[in-house]
Amino acid sequence: MEKRYLEIDEWKIVEEGWDPANHMKSESIFSIGNGRMGQRANFEETYSGNTLQGSYVAGVYYPDKTKVGWWKNGYPEYFAKVLNSVNWIGINISVDGEQLDLNACAVSNFRRELDMQHGLLSRSFDVKFTNGKTLRIDSKRFLSLVRDEVGAIAYSFTPVNFEGAVVVTPYLDFDVENHDANWEEKFWDSVEERVAAQKGTVTAKTKKLDFQVSAAMRFEVAEGDQHITLYPNTDQREKFVSNTVELRVEQGKTYTIYKYAGITSSMNYKTKDLALAADTLASEAMRDGFDALYEEHANAWLEKWSTSDIIIDGDPAAQQAIRFNIFHLFQTFTGVDPRLNIGPKGFTGEKYGGSTYWDTEAYCLPFYLSTTDQSVARNLLIYRYNHLQKAIENAEKLGFTNGAALYPMVTMNGEECHNEWEITFEEIHRNGAIAYGIFNYVRHTLDRDYLHEYGFEVLLAISRFWAQRVNWSEARGKYVMLGVTGPNEYENNVNNNFYTNKMATWTMAYTLEVIDELKENHPDAYAKLVEKTHFDEETETKEWHEIIANIAIPFDDKQQVYLQQDGFLDKDLRPASSLAVEERPINQHWSWDRILRSCFIKQADVLQGLYFFEHQYDKATIRRNFDFYEPMTVHESSLSPCVHVILASRIGYGEKAYELYLRTARLDLDDYNREVHEGLHITSMAGTWMSVVQGFGGMKIIKEKLVFEPLLPEGWKALHFMLRWRGAVLKVNVTHSTLKVENVSDVEAEFHYGPHVHRVAANGEIKLELTK
Ligand code: BGC
Repeated sequence: MEKRYLEIDEWKIVEEGWDPANHMKSESIFSIGNGRMGQRANFEETYSGNTLQGSYVAGVYYPDKTKVGWWKNGYPEYFAKVLNSVNWIGINISVDGEQLDLNACAVSNFRRELDMQHGLLSRSFDVKFTNGKTLRIDSKRFLSLVRDEVGAIAYSFTPVNFEGAVVVTPYLDFDVENHDANWEEKFWDSVEERVAAQKGTVTAKTKKLDFQVSAAMRFEVAEGDQHITLYPNTDQREKFVSNTVELRVEQGKTYTIYKYAGITSSMNYKTKDLALAADTLASEAMRDGFDALYEEHANAWLEKWSTSDIIIDGDPAAQQAIRFNIFHLFQTFTGVDPRLNIGPKGFTGEKYGGSTYWDTEAYCLPFYLSTTDQSVARNLLIYRYNHLQKAIENAEKLGFTNGAALYPMVTMNGEECHNEWEITFEEIHRNGAIAYGIFNYVRHTLDRDYLHEYGFEVLLAISRFWAQRVNWSEARGKYVMLGVTGPNEYENNVNNNFYTNKMATWTMAYTLEVIDELKENHPDAYAKLVEKTHFDEETETKEWHEIIANIAIPFDDKQQVYLQQDGFLDKDLRPASSLAVEERPINQHWSWDRILRSCFIKQADVLQGLYFFEHQYDKATIRRNFDFYEPMTVHESSLSPCVHVILASRIGYGEKAYELYLRTARLDLDDYNREVHEGLHITSMAGTWMSVVQGFGGMKIIKEKLVFEPLLPEGWKALHFMLRWRGAVLKVNVTHSTLKVENVSDVEAEFHYGPHVHRVAANGEIKLELTK
C-alpha cells in the first residue's frame, strides 16, 4: 500500500498540501461524471507537469486498428478506445505575462476536495508568481446530474498583495489525444469553430465512424456579486476557440469566472443541430446561474443517496470508502440510456477502453438492482439484447451456427474488441454471466415480462452456443468442454473448467424453465419467438437435457471438492503464503509460463460458481471448497476479494472476510496496486458494495425470496444499508446482536431470517434478535 495522503472524512475526499507526485493519482480519484460524460480531475489552468488529460463522452469511441505481434484468424479488426474528448474546462490565468502553472509557480495552502454528498469538486490554493505577486484561487466544478450535457465552473481569484492586471483566457480545445493510441495518431478532425464575445463552440468528428461532438462555452466574470462588462479578444484556430480578457483588479477583492459548457454528441442529435444544441444548453445554464444549477444538481445527489447510502458505525476509513465507491458507480452509469454501459475504469482513465466486460452482469448488476429504479438494471440487460445479432455474427465467425451467440469479452457496440486468443476465443464463461444477469434480474424484480419481451432470445442463443461448444467424449462417456479459460486467467486452454461447464449447463436448465413458463403464461408470444428464432424445440431441448445430465464436472472424491479443471491436482499445490513478498504480485515478477503451470489463482473461479449458485450448495460444500481454493488465491484481480468476502461471511469466517474486505474497500483510495494514476477500478467498486451488503449484511435471494444472514465485522458497531425491494425501500440495520428492517415506503415487504418469514408493513419496522 502507498502511504496514505488523503484525509479520512465520512462524506469527502480531501487532499491537503501540494505534492506533484500525487497529482495523477488525484486526477483519477477526484474524477467527476454524470453517466453521460465524465472527466479526470485535470486543472482548469495550464499545467506543465505530469498529467493524464481525460474528458470522456459516454458511448463515443474509436475503433483503433488492432496491433498484435502474431495475427490469429478470428481476431477482431480493432480495439474500441474510449475517446479523450474536448477539454471544456480550460481557463488560463496570467499575471505580467507569466502563466499560472502549479508546476512552475510557488504553491501554498493547497487543498482539493470532492464532496460526494453533493457531487462537487473544489480546489483552493495560493500561488506566487516569479515577481512575487500572489493570487488566492478557489475553484468549484460539477457535471450536472440533472442536465447531463452541462458542466459548470466557478473559478475565483483574489489578488493577495497587488493591484493591476490579470489576464484570463477561457477556452475550448478539441486538439486532444489518447495516450493509448495504437498508431500514435490523433482521433479527432475539425468540423467547425465559432467564437464571439463571451461564447464559442467547437465541433469535431472522429476519423472513423463519424461520431461528432460539439462543445459550447459561455462565460461571465463577477467581482463579488457585480458582473463586470467585458471586452474580450477572441481567437480561434483548428479545433480551438478562446476569449482573452484583461481585468483590472484590486488587492483583496475576489473575481469569479463563471464558465458554463454544453456538450452534445451525434448519438443524441442530428449533426446539423449539434453546435446549436450545445450553445443553447450553455446559454440556458448561464441564464440560470451557477448557484441554481448547483442546487438542482446537489438535490439530485441527495435523492440518489436516499435509497443507496451505507453507514458503517465504528470504522471511518471504511465509511469513507464505501461512499466513495457508491459515488463513483452512480457517476459512471445512471441507467437512462440502454446504449451505455459500465467500463471497468468508467470515465476515469483510458485503460480497458471504456468498454463493457462481464463485470457488468457479474458484479455491477446487483448494485443497481438494489439501489435504483428497476428500469436501470433493465436497461443494462437491454444493452445486451440489442447486441444479440452481433453476438450471433461473432459466433458465426468462429464457426458456430443456428443462431448460437458468443457475446464479446470486451465491447462497445456488440462487436468483439479483445485480441488475445486465450481470452477472445476461450474466456467464454462471459456468455454465462449474461444469462445469469437475466436470471438475477427476474428473481429480484419478478418482472417476468422481460423474458418474453427480450430475455428468452438471449437465453436461447447462449444455450445454443453451449450445446455446440461441448463435445461428446467417447473415452470418458461424458460431454466435455475443451480449450477454455475460466475467470482465473492464470490458466489458459484448460479442459472442463468447473465454472464454465457449470455456467453452460445451468444456462440450458434455466432456458428450459423459462420455456415452460412462457408456454404456460404467454403461449402466443412464445409461438412467435419460436418462429422468429427457428427454434426446433423438441430436438434442441432433448440435446440440452442430455448435456445437462452427462456433463463432465471435475470432482475429487478424496477431498470432496470441485476441481477447477481437469488435471488440477497434478499441480504443485501450495499456499500463496509460501510466496516470498518480493515475488508478489506474481504477474509482475514471474514469467507467464511459470504462472500458468503454478496452482496460483488470480481470482475466484470455482468459488465464483459457488457464489452464483449458493442456493444449490450446502454450507459444508462451500466451506470445503473455500478452504481448498482461497489459500491458493493471489487475488491479483480487483474483482477477486469480494466473492471471497461473501462466501467467508456465509461460513462464519468473520476474520478472513474482513481481511479480504480491506483489500477491496480502499483499493483506489490507498492505491494498493500502485496504478491509480491510470484510473479507478469502477467495476470492482460494485464488488465492494456486494461485500458489504451481501457479505456482512448477508442479503441474498433464495428461490425469489429476500433472505438476511448477517455477520458483522468485529470492529464495526453497526451497519445500515438501503435496499429497493419490489417497490419497497428498506433500511436494514445490523448490529452484533440485532437485525432491524425499517420499511420507509408505502409498499409492504417480506423477508426471511432463519426459518421464519417476516412481513414489514408499509412504513413499519421489525427488529429481531440475532441467533448465534
Ligand atoms: C479480470 C477480468 C475482468 C477484467 C476487467 C481482468 O483483470 O481478470 O475478470 O473482466 O479485468 O475488469
